[in-house]
Amino acid sequence: MIFAANFKTNHTRATTKAYIEALNEKLFTKRVQDSVYIFPPSTALDHYKGNFTLGVQNAYMTRNGAYTGEIGLEQLEEFSIKTILVGHSERREILGEKQEFITEKFSYFKEHGFEIIYCIGEPLEIREQGDEAVIEYLLAQFEGIDTSYEKLIVAYEPIWAIGTGRSATTEEIENTHAALKKTIQKPLLYGGSVKPENIKEITNIRGVDGVLVGSASLDVESFSKMVLI
Ligand code: PGA
Repeated sequence: MIFAANFKTNHTRATTKAYIEALNEKLFTKRVQDSVYIFPPSTALDHYKGNFTLGVQNAYMTRNGAYTGEIGLEQLEEFSIKTILVGHSERREILGEKQEFITEKFSYFKEHGFEIIYCIGEPLEIREQGDEAVIEYLLAQFEGIDTSYEKLIVAYEPIWAIGTGRSATTEEIENTHAALKKTIQKPLLYGGSVKPENIKEITNIRGVDGVLVGSASLDVESFSKMVLI
């Protein structure tokens, strides 16, 4: 199983350091076949050591240059970061990233050998139209994406389940994962209100290879409880 923590715009450099120290103590008892990823905010990237992979939530497709407010390869290389989230719904919806732009970003980080957690997810009005509409919508989010890329991990995160406390049902997750796996044979994470109370149920669903956790990952006790279920 893959357990990924997406801090979003939470935690500082100081609290991330304390989090990772606490996490490392807990991870002594982690199962060897499980892997843990931490995505802190960019200001908290550092040379951390531990039984996890440090990734970045976002970066621009450049080594360096004039892209005010963005970071590029140069800033990631400083901390040997080779893992990135691409296509998260908050970047699509709030920051206005279009599929073409996301495709460019994906290709750039692929060319540079990054492991990419590529996020997809449907809004509520599509979910309400039924399974067929959902799959059609999700597959369209792979337009321009090399789904055979060896370092690709996919995260299915229904937008209506993110940060709302309302996770998708077991049946919705199982059906969606099964349908996606017919086309994309890559590790497939589920994200959207994953928490200690539902982690067991979610990781037991056929076709779920791991979880991408936001809110419930912010507290190290809560996240490590999920990793150690
Ligand atoms: P959530 O966020 O766990 O707070 O729902 C998940 C995500 O957006 O990755």
